Amino acid sequence: MDESLQIPVMLEEVISGLNLTPGALVIDATIGGGGHAEAILTATAPQGKLLGLDWDKDAITRSGNRLAAYQDRVVLKQANYTETKTIAYEQRFYPVSALLLDLGLSRDQLKDGARGFAIQTEGPLDMRFSDQVSLTAKEIVNTWPEKSLEQIFTEFGEERHAARAAQAIAAARKLAPINTTRELADVVVRGVGRRGRYHIHPATRIFQALRIATNREFENIKQALPEMVSLLAPGGRIAVLTFHSLEDRIVKFFFRDLARAEHPTIALVNKKVIKPGRPEVLGNKASRSAKLRIIEKL
Ligand SMILES: C[S@@+](CC[C@H](N)C(=O)[O-])C[C@H]1O[C@@H](n2cnc3c(N)ncnc32)[C@H](O)[C@@H]1O
Repeated sequence: MDESLQIPVMLEEVISGLNLTPGALVIDATIGGGGHAEAILTATAPQGKLLGLDWDKDAITRSGNRLAAYQDRVVLKQANYTETKTIAYEQRFYPVSALLLDLGLSRDQLKDGARGFAIQTEGPLDMRFSDQVSLTAKEIVNTWPEKSLEQIFTEFGEERHAARAAQAIAAARKLAPINTTRELADVVVRGVGRRGRYHIHPATRIFQALRIATNREFENIKQALPEMVSLLAPGGRIAVLTFHSLEDRIVKFFFRDLARAEHPTIALVNKKVIKPGRPEVLGNKASRSAKLRIIEKL
Protein backbone atom coordinates (compact mmCIF):
# COMPACT_ATOMS: atom_id res chain seq x y z
CA MET A 1 0.00 0.00 0.00
CA ASP A 2 1.79 3.12 -1.17
CA GLU A 3 -0.97 5.66 -0.81
CA SER A 4 -2.40 6.40 2.60
CA LEU A 5 -6.09 5.73 3.29
CA GLN A 6 -5.97 7.94 6.37
CA ILE A 7 -8.17 11.05 6.32
CA PRO A 8 -6.63 13.76 8.53
CA VAL A 9 -9.00 14.60 11.38
CA MET A 10 -10.05 18.20 12.15
CA LEU A 11 -7.50 19.41 9.62
CA GLU A 12 -8.63 23.05 9.56
CA GLU A 13 -8.92 23.27 13.34
CA VAL A 14 -5.45 21.75 13.78
CA ILE A 15 -3.77 24.02 11.22
CA SER A 16 -5.40 27.23 12.43
CA GLY A 17 -4.91 26.20 16.07
CA LEU A 18 -1.17 25.69 15.59
CA ASN A 19 -0.87 29.33 14.46
CA LEU A 20 1.67 28.46 11.77
CA THR A 21 3.85 31.08 10.12
CA PRO A 22 6.19 30.87 7.11
CA GLY A 23 9.59 29.52 8.10
CA ALA A 24 8.39 27.78 11.30
CA LEU A 25 10.02 24.63 12.71
CA VAL A 26 7.30 22.07 13.35
CA ILE A 27 7.27 18.52 14.73
CA ASP A 28 4.61 16.03 13.71
CA ALA A 29 5.23 13.28 16.27
CA THR A 30 2.70 10.83 14.73
CA ILE A 31 3.00 11.55 11.02
CA GLY A 32 0.96 8.52 9.85
CA GLY A 33 -0.04 9.02 6.23
CA GLY A 34 1.27 12.59 6.23
CA GLY A 35 -2.07 14.37 5.70
CA HIS A 36 -1.67 16.87 8.53
CA ALA A 37 2.04 17.14 7.70
CA GLU A 38 1.36 18.19 4.13
CA ALA A 39 -0.98 20.96 5.29
CA ILE A 40 1.66 22.06 7.83
CA LEU A 41 4.27 22.26 5.06
CA THR A 42 1.91 24.35 2.94
CA ALA A 43 1.18 26.71 5.83
CA THR A 44 4.89 27.16 6.64
CA ALA A 45 6.12 27.53 3.01
CA PRO A 46 8.50 28.40 1.57
CA GLN A 47 11.10 27.66 4.23
CA GLY A 48 9.38 26.02 7.18
CA LYS A 49 10.83 22.68 8.24
CA LEU A 50 9.10 19.58 9.54
CA LEU A 51 10.44 16.76 11.70
CA GLY A 52 8.10 13.80 11.28
CA LEU A 53 8.09 10.74 13.53
CA ASP A 54 6.11 7.56 13.55
CA TRP A 55 6.68 4.30 15.40
CA ASP A 56 5.48 2.38 12.35
CA LYS A 57 8.01 2.04 9.55
CA ASP A 58 5.22 1.63 6.97
CA ALA A 59 3.91 5.07 7.98
CA ILE A 60 7.37 6.53 7.45
CA THR A 61 7.45 5.03 3.94
CA ARG A 62 3.94 6.20 3.10
CA SER A 63 4.36 9.73 4.40
CA GLY A 64 7.77 9.89 2.69
CA ASN A 65 6.11 9.11 -0.64
CA ARG A 66 3.42 11.66 -0.05
CA LEU A 67 5.84 14.39 0.95
CA ALA A 68 8.46 13.65 -1.73
CA ALA A 69 7.96 17.10 -3.26
CA TYR A 70 8.99 18.72 0.05
CA GLN A 71 12.06 16.55 0.55
CA ASP A 72 14.44 19.37 1.42
CA ARG A 73 12.11 20.65 4.14
CA VAL A 74 11.34 17.33 5.83
CA VAL A 75 13.21 14.91 8.10
CA LEU A 76 11.45 11.61 8.83
CA LYS A 77 12.40 9.08 11.52
CA GLN A 78 10.90 5.83 12.72
CA ALA A 79 10.64 6.30 16.49
CA ASN A 80 8.40 6.19 19.50
CA TYR A 81 7.23 9.75 20.12
CA THR A 82 8.58 9.39 23.67
CA GLU A 83 11.97 9.90 21.96
CA THR A 84 10.95 13.23 20.42
CA LYS A 85 13.24 15.33 22.60
CA THR A 86 16.30 13.15 22.00
CA ILE A 87 15.75 13.19 18.25
CA ALA A 88 15.04 16.93 18.16
CA TYR A 89 18.33 17.53 20.01
CA GLU A 90 20.24 15.18 17.68
CA GLN A 91 18.81 16.99 14.68
CA ARG A 92 19.25 20.44 16.29
CA PHE A 93 15.56 20.83 15.62
CA TYR A 94 14.45 23.09 18.51
CA PRO A 95 12.97 25.22 19.88
CA VAL A 96 9.89 24.53 17.76
CA SER A 97 6.92 26.74 16.90
CA ALA A 98 4.43 23.90 16.82
CA LEU A 99 4.04 20.23 17.63
CA LEU A 100 1.24 17.87 16.66
CA LEU A 101 0.27 14.58 18.30
CA ASP A 102 -2.52 12.70 16.54
CA LEU A 103 -2.89 9.61 18.70
CA GLY A 104 -4.10 6.11 18.11
CA LEU A 105 -4.41 4.08 14.99
CA SER A 106 -4.46 5.05 11.32
CA ARG A 107 -6.84 3.64 8.77
CA ASP A 108 -3.84 2.17 6.98
CA GLN A 109 -3.01 0.11 10.06
CA LEU A 110 -6.63 -0.87 10.69
CA LYS A 111 -7.15 -2.03 7.12
CA ASP A 112 -4.00 -4.14 7.02
CA GLY A 113 -5.21 -7.58 8.18
CA ALA A 114 -1.66 -8.74 8.89
CA ARG A 115 -1.37 -6.16 11.69
CA GLY A 116 -4.19 -7.78 13.66
CA PHE A 117 -6.06 -4.61 14.68
CA ALA A 118 -9.41 -5.33 13.06
CA ILE A 119 -12.16 -7.57 14.38
CA GLN A 120 -13.69 -8.02 10.97
CA THR A 121 -10.50 -9.00 9.15
CA GLU A 122 -8.80 -12.29 9.90
CA GLY A 123 -5.19 -11.84 10.96
CA PRO A 124 -2.63 -12.77 13.60
CA LEU A 125 -3.26 -11.31 17.08
CA ASP A 126 -0.46 -8.79 16.80
CA MET A 127 -1.67 -5.18 17.33
CA ARG A 128 1.82 -3.68 17.63
CA PHE A 129 2.17 -0.17 16.23
CA SER A 130 5.77 -0.96 15.50
CA ASP A 131 8.28 -3.73 14.93
CA GLN A 132 10.13 -2.03 17.80
CA VAL A 133 7.46 -3.24 20.26
CA SER A 134 8.18 -6.70 21.65
CA LEU A 135 4.90 -7.54 23.39
CA THR A 136 2.02 -8.73 21.18
CA ALA A 137 -1.71 -8.98 21.81
CA LYS A 138 -1.32 -12.74 21.36
CA GLU A 139 1.06 -12.92 24.29
CA ILE A 140 -1.28 -10.89 26.48
CA VAL A 141 -4.33 -12.96 25.56
CA ASN A 142 -2.60 -16.30 26.03
CA THR A 143 -0.35 -15.68 29.03
CA TRP A 144 -1.62 -12.86 31.25
CA PRO A 145 -3.57 -13.90 34.36
CA GLU A 146 -7.34 -13.72 34.02
CA LYS A 147 -7.44 -10.90 36.61
CA SER A 148 -4.99 -8.79 34.60
CA LEU A 149 -7.08 -9.27 31.48
CA GLU A 150 -10.17 -8.20 33.38
CA GLN A 151 -8.32 -5.15 34.64
CA ILE A 152 -7.19 -3.94 31.21
CA PHE A 153 -10.62 -4.63 29.71
CA THR A 154 -12.15 -2.50 32.47
CA GLU A 155 -9.53 0.25 32.52
CA PHE A 156 -8.57 0.61 28.87
CA GLY A 157 -11.74 -0.71 27.27
CA GLU A 158 -14.31 0.60 29.77
CA GLU A 159 -15.97 -2.74 29.05
CA ARG A 160 -18.96 -3.59 31.23
CA HIS A 161 -18.54 -7.31 30.67
CA ALA A 162 -14.81 -7.34 31.39
CA ALA A 163 -14.95 -10.19 33.92
CA ARG A 164 -17.04 -12.38 31.65
CA ALA A 165 -14.78 -11.74 28.66
CA ALA A 166 -11.63 -12.49 30.69
CA GLN A 167 -13.22 -15.68 31.99
CA ALA A 168 -14.15 -16.81 28.47
CA ILE A 169 -10.60 -16.21 27.26
CA ALA A 170 -9.06 -18.05 30.21
CA ALA A 171 -11.34 -21.05 29.57
CA ALA A 172 -10.75 -21.09 25.80
CA ARG A 173 -6.96 -20.87 25.97
CA LYS A 174 -6.82 -23.94 28.21
CA LEU A 175 -8.09 -25.93 25.25
CA ALA A 176 -6.00 -24.27 22.53
CA PRO A 177 -4.05 -21.03 22.11
CA ILE A 178 -6.00 -18.09 20.70
CA ASN A 179 -4.01 -17.11 17.64
CA THR A 180 -6.10 -14.89 15.41
CA THR A 181 -8.42 -11.88 15.48
CA ARG A 182 -11.37 -14.01 14.42
CA GLU A 183 -10.70 -16.64 17.10
CA LEU A 184 -10.56 -13.95 19.77
CA ALA A 185 -13.70 -12.22 18.49
CA ASP A 186 -15.54 -15.58 18.56
CA VAL A 187 -14.40 -16.38 22.10
CA VAL A 188 -15.57 -12.96 23.31
CA VAL A 189 -18.94 -13.23 21.59
CA ARG A 190 -19.47 -16.69 23.08
CA GLY A 191 -18.45 -15.37 26.50
CA VAL A 192 -20.44 -12.17 26.71
CA GLY A 193 -23.13 -12.96 24.18
CA ARG A 194 -24.69 -10.26 22.10
CA ARG A 195 -26.09 -8.54 25.15
CA GLY A 196 -28.04 -5.35 24.98
CA ARG A 197 -28.42 -3.39 21.82
CA TYR A 198 -24.89 -3.33 20.54
CA HIS A 199 -24.22 -0.70 17.92
CA ILE A 200 -20.72 -2.02 17.76
CA HIS A 201 -19.28 -5.52 17.65
CA PRO A 202 -19.28 -6.97 21.21
CA ALA A 203 -15.49 -7.40 21.09
CA THR A 204 -14.72 -3.80 20.04
CA ARG A 205 -13.71 -2.61 23.50
CA ILE A 206 -11.73 -5.76 24.16
CA PHE A 207 -9.71 -5.16 20.99
CA GLN A 208 -9.20 -1.52 21.95
CA ALA A 209 -7.97 -2.47 25.42
CA LEU A 210 -5.52 -5.02 24.01
CA ARG A 211 -4.12 -2.47 21.56
CA ILE A 212 -3.60 0.09 24.32
CA ALA A 213 -1.90 -2.48 26.58
CA THR A 214 0.31 -3.90 23.80
CA ASN A 215 1.67 -0.48 22.88
CA ARG A 216 1.63 0.98 26.41
CA GLU A 217 -0.23 3.92 24.93
CA PHE A 218 -1.13 5.73 28.14
CA GLU A 219 2.38 5.38 29.58
CA ASN A 220 3.77 6.84 26.36
CA ILE A 221 1.57 9.90 26.42
CA LYS A 222 2.26 10.58 30.11
CA GLN A 223 5.99 10.29 29.54
CA ALA A 224 6.08 12.38 26.37
CA LEU A 225 4.00 15.46 27.18
CA PRO A 226 6.42 17.19 29.60
CA GLU A 227 9.34 16.81 27.18
CA MET A 228 7.24 18.09 24.33
CA VAL A 229 6.36 21.25 26.25
CA SER A 230 10.06 21.79 26.92
CA LEU A 231 10.81 21.79 23.18
CA LEU A 232 8.52 24.74 22.45
CA ALA A 233 9.71 28.28 21.80
CA PRO A 234 7.80 30.97 23.72
CA GLY A 235 4.50 31.39 21.91
CA GLY A 236 4.90 27.89 20.43
CA ARG A 237 1.90 25.60 20.40
CA ILE A 238 1.02 21.94 20.87
CA ALA A 239 -2.11 20.34 19.44
CA VAL A 240 -3.16 16.90 20.68
CA LEU A 241 -5.87 14.81 19.05
CA THR A 242 -7.18 11.91 21.14
CA PHE A 243 -9.74 9.22 20.39
CA HIS A 244 -10.31 7.71 23.82
CA SER A 245 -11.84 9.36 26.87
CA LEU A 246 -9.11 8.22 29.26
CA GLU A 247 -6.41 9.47 26.94
CA ASP A 248 -8.16 12.81 26.69
CA ARG A 249 -8.30 12.97 30.48
CA ILE A 250 -4.53 12.43 30.73
CA VAL A 251 -3.92 15.28 28.27
CA LYS A 252 -6.53 17.56 29.82
CA PHE A 253 -5.22 17.26 33.40
CA PHE A 254 -1.58 17.53 32.39
CA PHE A 255 -2.22 20.79 30.53
CA ARG A 256 -4.62 22.13 33.16
CA ASP A 257 -2.13 21.62 35.97
CA LEU A 258 0.62 23.44 34.06
CA ALA A 259 -1.73 26.29 33.16
CA ARG A 260 -2.96 26.66 36.76
CA ALA A 261 0.42 26.35 38.47
CA GLU A 262 1.65 29.21 40.63
CA HIS A 263 4.17 30.01 37.90
CA PRO A 264 2.39 28.78 34.78
CA THR A 265 4.52 27.70 31.82
CA ILE A 266 1.65 27.36 29.35
CA ALA A 267 -1.78 28.77 28.63
CA LEU A 268 -4.77 26.84 27.31
CA VAL A 269 -5.66 28.12 23.83
CA ASN A 270 -9.10 26.56 23.95
CA LYS A 271 -10.75 26.33 27.37
CA LYS A 272 -13.25 23.79 26.09
CA VAL A 273 -12.25 20.73 24.15
CA ILE A 274 -12.75 21.01 20.36
CA LYS A 275 -14.78 18.29 18.65
CA PRO A 276 -15.37 17.63 14.95
CA GLY A 277 -18.43 19.16 13.34
CA ARG A 278 -21.29 17.00 12.14
CA PRO A 279 -20.31 17.13 8.45
CA GLU A 280 -16.86 15.79 9.28
CA VAL A 281 -18.27 12.95 11.39
CA LEU A 282 -20.67 12.04 8.60
CA GLY A 283 -17.85 12.05 6.06
CA ASN A 284 -15.31 10.24 8.26
CA LYS A 285 -16.68 7.90 10.91
CA ALA A 286 -13.23 7.54 12.45
CA SER A 287 -13.41 11.18 13.56
CA ARG A 288 -16.48 10.69 15.75
CA SER A 289 -14.65 10.31 19.06
CA ALA A 290 -11.91 12.84 18.29
CA LYS A 291 -11.04 15.55 20.80
CA LEU A 292 -8.58 18.35 20.18
CA ARG A 293 -6.70 20.34 22.83
CA ILE A 294 -4.28 23.15 22.11
CA ILE A 295 -1.87 24.94 24.42
CA GLU A 296 0.63 27.78 24.04
CA LYS A 297 4.00 28.08 25.75
CA LEU A 298 4.38 31.30 27.73
C1 LIG B 1 -4.10 8.67 13.61
S1 LIG B 1 -2.56 8.25 12.93
C2 LIG B 1 -1.85 9.77 12.42
C3 LIG B 1 -2.42 10.27 11.12
C4 LIG B 1 -1.72 11.49 10.55
N1 LIG B 1 -1.96 12.67 11.37
C5 LIG B 1 -2.19 11.75 9.12
O1 LIG B 1 -2.61 12.86 8.80
O2 LIG B 1 -2.12 10.81 8.32
C6 LIG B 1 -1.64 7.85 14.35
C7 LIG B 1 -0.22 7.41 14.09
O3 LIG B 1 0.48 7.44 15.34
C8 LIG B 1 1.42 6.41 15.32
N2 LIG B 1 1.79 6.14 16.71
C9 LIG B 1 1.04 5.59 17.68
N3 LIG B 1 1.73 5.53 18.83
C10 LIG B 1 2.96 6.05 18.56
C11 LIG B 1 4.11 6.26 19.34
N4 LIG B 1 4.16 5.92 20.63
N5 LIG B 1 5.17 6.85 18.76
C12 LIG B 1 5.14 7.21 17.45
N6 LIG B 1 4.07 7.01 16.65
C13 LIG B 1 2.99 6.45 17.21
C14 LIG B 1 0.73 5.27 14.62
O4 LIG B 1 1.68 4.38 14.11
C15 LIG B 1 -0.07 6.01 13.54
O5 LIG B 1 0.64 6.03 12.33
